[in-house]
Amino acid sequence: MCGIVGYVGNKDALPILLESLKKLEYRGYDSSGVGFLDHDSRLIVRKSKGKISNLESLLRQDSLPFAHTGISHTRWATHGFPSDINAHPHTDSKNHIAVVHNGIIENFQELKAELKKKGCKFLSATDSEVIPHLIASFYKGDFLSAVRRALAKIKGTFALGVISHHHPGVLIAARVGSPLIIGVGDSENFIASDVPAILDFTRRVIYLQDGQIGVLTKDKVDLFTFEGKNVKTQVDTVAFNVTAARKDGYPHFMLKEIHEQPDVLEQMLSLRLKKGKLVLDGLALSDEILKRMHKVTIVACGTAYHAGLVGKYIIESLSRLPVEVDTSSEFRYRNPIIDKNTLVLAVSQSGETADTLAALREAHSRGAKVIAICNVVGSSLVREADGVLYTYAGQEIGVASTKAYTAQLMMFYLLALKLAQARKTIDVKESREFVRQLMRVPSLQRNILKDMHHIQKIAEANSHFGCFLFLGRHVNYPSALEGALKLKEISYIPAEGYAAGEMKHGPIALIDEYRAVVCINPQSHVYEKMSSNMQEIRARKGNIIAIATSLDAQIRSNADFVIEVPQITDLLSPLLVVLPLQMLAYFIAVKRGCDVDQPRNLAKSVTVE
Ligand code: AGP
Repeated sequence: MCGIVGYVGNKDALPILLESLKKLEYRGYDSSGVGFLDHDSRLIVRKSKGKISNLESLLRQDSLPFAHTGISHTRWATHGFPSDINAHPHTDSKNHIAVVHNGIIENFQELKAELKKKGCKFLSATDSEVIPHLIASFYKGDFLSAVRRALAKIKGTFALGVISHHHPGVLIAARVGSPLIIGVGDSENFIASDVPAILDFTRRVIYLQDGQIGVLTKDKVDLFTFEGKNVKTQVDTVAFNVTAARKDGYPHFMLKEIHEQPDVLEQMLSLRLKKGKLVLDGLALSDEILKRMHKVTIVACGTAYHAGLVGKYIIESLSRLPVEVDTSSEFRYRNPIIDKNTLVLAVSQSGETADTLAALREAHSRGAKVIAICNVVGSSLVREADGVLYTYAGQEIGVASTKAYTAQLMMFYLLALKLAQARKTIDVKESREFVRQLMRVPSLQRNILKDMHHIQKIAEANSHFGCFLFLGRHVNYPSALEGALKLKEISYIPAEGYAAGEMKHGPIALIDEYRAVVCINPQSHVYEKMSSNMQEIRARKGNIIAIATSLDAQIRSNADFVIEVPQITDLLSPLLVVLPLQMLAYFIAVKRGCDVDQPRNLAKSVTVE
């Protein structure tokens, strides 16, 4: 996934292109670049490997001209490793047309071969570079027609910004399968991969739809279908604000966001529980419809998928509704058995994950209702779902998801309660007790965060291990998966999450004095079973970090290190045990000198398949 910005207007394009692009750096930071037309409409392109700060240093070396028309791009590499030459914008051989692209051109090899036969010279290893050459090959004076003809040849997904030396003051945008919005200003217009990138300049946006082309000048925005038919423009006004993300004294956004979790959950509970009564307004499904559901299917990726796995245990335990959980990328290709009596929950922090968007569309095509559990207001997923349960966790900047995860978990607890009440599988007394337990969570989390320096010492004492195993049972099996993902994605240490009961069926072969094993074993109905697993690991000299309920004396004989979490009812323990897991990952990564907020090869939102 990449970030795209375009500008056409009376102001100097370059500073706008850069400032807006920085707000999209979460979408990828392998390389970045700008392309613009100077007063003689000469096309100038500057691009650089690495973060946008590298591009800014490059631009400071030149005294660059004032430009009214320009595009910029921050990249997450799909085809072609991160480098200056593979950075966008890409241009045609005559340097007349420049393009920035987010998506994947599936037939680029075939197109590249055809274009090479026509004498096109390719410089990069990317799929995207075929686009400017294709447009140039069709260009006979009509910019829009050349773009339309080029798009007709492309298979795959794209959000594009295109400028041309022949057409100063014109910016063309088009999309299929990747997000792109148009910002409508006064004597200026913008394109961007998402709304926050341009909120400093305008609140008036047009959500470009798949199969649409926008032709922007400083005074006008015209929309067309790929076939060239006019499309009525609908300008929406963005109501939400995006508070400028600040670290507020923390060394990294991730650590700040770990510490924000109690406040986020406290806010959620006050918003969603009014005098003990559930307020899930965005659900948009009556109790009657909920009662009619035969099963729930949860689709998500990465950390959101782990939240879904916890959701399965909670929803099945409270409402006795069968729950399936799929990674979105698997769901969409397995010919899933769902229908109008299936409640599909699409979980996504960003609301822009391509696979989860595709899973939603797959579910809709089979007649299912889809509810989004999402953190970004107005995102693509939200706009296509039948209802939305916002987690309101606030902007999550750290690529490794933390507060969004526990907010997703909390949403599942609330939704499970709603389903149980609708299906009368829980009585008033049980509901009240469940809510009472939920209300305790923020303060219990605060207690855990007070233990941060103890956790930091344990992390640093284990940061030398080259391989970690995370083990959990029942509702904390997904916690083990999440702990492993947190560690591997920010410290680059191989880490695997496993159901502890499965250890004897293979992973135990890994155990020796060179492995660290994180055992998640709070007081629960599977405590003894988990303790046996820990003894089996000890017998093979595995190094154990245990996450256990406070004052558990027994666990100390089975572990090298113990991190305590307060006592809470079984089902709610994932809301607590994940904090030590997040902090272990964080402090190990810091100790190893990794880029915690922007780990290599990753991006915050995966908008390509
Ligand atoms: C989580 O730490 C990762 N950054 C990643 O797995 C993420 O959860 C996944 O890409 C899904 O993102 P989404 O919630 O925005 O859909």
